[in-house]
Amino acid sequence: MEKILQFPKGFLWGAATSAHQVEGGNTNDWSEWEKKHAERFAGEAKNHWESWQQERFPEMFDPANYISGHATDHYNRYEEDFDIAKSLGHNAHRFSIEWSRIEPEEGKFDEKEIAHYRQVLQALKKRSLEPFVTIWHWPLPLWLSEKGGWEAPGATMYFERYAAKLAAVFKDEVRFWITINESQIYALHGYTTGEWPPGKTNVFLYFLIVHKLINAHKKAYQAIKAIAPEANVGIATHNIYFEAHKNTFINRMLKKAVDWWWNDYFLNKISRHQDFVGLNNYLHNRIDYGFNKNENMKVSDMGWELYPEALFHTLMGLKKYKVPVYVMESGLADADDSRREWFIKALLEQVYRANKSGVDVRGFLYWSLLDNFEWDKGFWPRFGLVAIDYETLERKIRPSARAYAEICRSNSLIQKE
Ligand code: FCB
Repeated sequence: MEKILQFPKGFLWGAATSAHQVEGGNTNDWSEWEKKHAERFAGEAKNHWESWQQERFPEMFDPANYISGHATDHYNRYEEDFDIAKSLGHNAHRFSIEWSRIEPEEGKFDEKEIAHYRQVLQALKKRSLEPFVTIWHWPLPLWLSEKGGWEAPGATMYFERYAAKLAAVFKDEVRFWITINESQIYALHGYTTGEWPPGKTNVFLYFLIVHKLINAHKKAYQAIKAIAPEANVGIATHNIYFEAHKNTFINRMLKKAVDWWWNDYFLNKISRHQDFVGLNNYLHNRIDYGFNKNENMKVSDMGWELYPEALFHTLMGLKKYKVPVYVMESGLADADDSRREWFIKALLEQVYRANKSGVDVRGFLYWSLLDNFEWDKGFWPRFGLVAIDYETLERKIRPSARAYAEICRSNSLIQKE
């Protein structure tokens, strides 16, 4: 039996990227961090990954894997990449603007880079791809990291000024602004585990930074709305489906606590300063008198459990905010493309189900359009609808991208029962 799942009229379909992961040629706190830690990351890979992963992805032992360098050269090849997105039936695209390019020196905005991103926006418009623009997807300009990054007393003000500048110059081109990508993940890895810049391991700083980011979002929201009242402004939040296994009292209490802090705290604080919720979802975390007791029946190349129902549950958790929801990221690392088509379809069934259950989901952006630089993991995880040959920079559309294209074009999904 086949059933056609029809998505709402005007649903936005596409994929997402972020500047540092695809552009190439960036100089920011992250590129500095890469240079300092590449050798160490390569050396430690054997402790981090299972033997099947080490065998399949020997690049992880090469320090060059951890240097973003020219990445996919999307900075120069965006036209070609948007042609591909268009040919794949997309009608929306998420990307980020690189702060260190726009404001390479404190308070000095680079007109050439502004002109570059204007061309990027025009290239999207020409192809009828609705832009979702992320203002900050993690790397900081060097001048700001030298002052202490988000710990610097003026950090919130600097961010507000940068966001206001973008709103002023692109107010006619951009309808959807994402101020901050995954504040929770950024603060966690940068300030507790120390795996990411600035490499700190201090819980007090972690709480401080989360609160700074809350404030930074609110200020940026107000600044953008003052300049472009019609704009839609929100964040992209990394929410996790915490499941209380067997529904026991202890598991339920643990779930309540982590839902409160991880999934809802930031959104509650900004609830009067958001026009939509952007959801990034990858993870399921089964709680069974402890965390991460997942079954892991299917996993991605990175070992993340492929559990599509997590998307349904995280979407349901956003209903209470009473604003439209866009899936801003969901996807998997799958170098041989053996699971991607199945996973995309399974995710979209969950989006459909959430819509039917009253969540106003209006778009889905797969992570990612292109293979790219996966932060401290480097280049070996392959998230792209489009494969990149990092030697030649040749683009190759993966078969799963064509299956996704059918869905985008028809605004519907055929469900086999
Ligand atoms: C998200 C990030 C994105 C990418 C995916 C795999 O947490 O926002 O940049 O790294 O994970």
